[in-house]
Amino acid sequence: MAKKAKAASGRSSAKKTRAKSVKKASASKGRTKATAKRRANGRRANGADRAPSRGRDPAAIALLKQDHRTVEALFEEFEEATSPTDKRNIAREICLELTIHTMIEEELFYPAVKDAIDEETYGEALVEHDGAKVLIAEIMDANPRDEFYDARVKVLSEMIKHHVKEEEQPGGMFAQARRGDIDFDDLGERLEQRKDDLKRTLKRSGIPAPETRTLHGAELRYGDPVG
Ligand SMILES: [Fe+2]
Ligand SMILES: [Fe+2]
Repeated sequence: MAKKAKAASGRSSAKKTRAKSVKKASASKGRTKATAKRRANGRRANGADRAPSRGRDPAAIALLKQDHRTVEALFEEFEEATSPTDKRNIAREICLELTIHTMIEEELFYPAVKDAIDEETYGEALVEHDGAKVLIAEIMDANPRDEFYDARVKVLSEMIKHHVKEEEQPGGMFAQARRGDIDFDDLGERLEQRKDDLKRTLKRSGIPAPETRTLHGAELRYGDPVG
């Protein structure tokens, strides 16, 4: 009887292990699929999959669009993730990518195109960056098991989606910038160089506390949970 029970428990633990490894395999398959999609999106945004055309993005804009596609795919990857470890890793990747992207835009791209774009577009873009930085700081400081972790990442993705639309849409920041007298090849090279440097540095040192440009860190009070 005891033997039977043992055999049964052995079978059920073998079943559990199999289920676990199937789950693990499909989770990692999911990540692989999402990573492949991210790479393909990156190539497309860069123009590598397109025939040359007169409407092709200048180098600097192609690089920034490629960053946008990378982050969008990472957000999709986060939505599919189930384990706290995967969620933490993907969220950190999102925060790293966004930190580098906002830094190169604020240090190089925005100043270079400032005179070619309208004041409203410029101001809103910087405030949107700062709003995203608040959530990035919160996510970096949180645990994937926290109650509002997924909600923070989701809201960050929505904020970024809106911001990317404002940059890429017809008449948006990139379209306005293209009408200016800007050496996009040189700017593209400088963006790429700074991006590589930051990637190397931040991978070693970790993601720094975000630096805001328009929000002054007004004090917030953390209240009791709702409900
Ligand atoms: Fe951008
Ligand atoms: Fe931006």
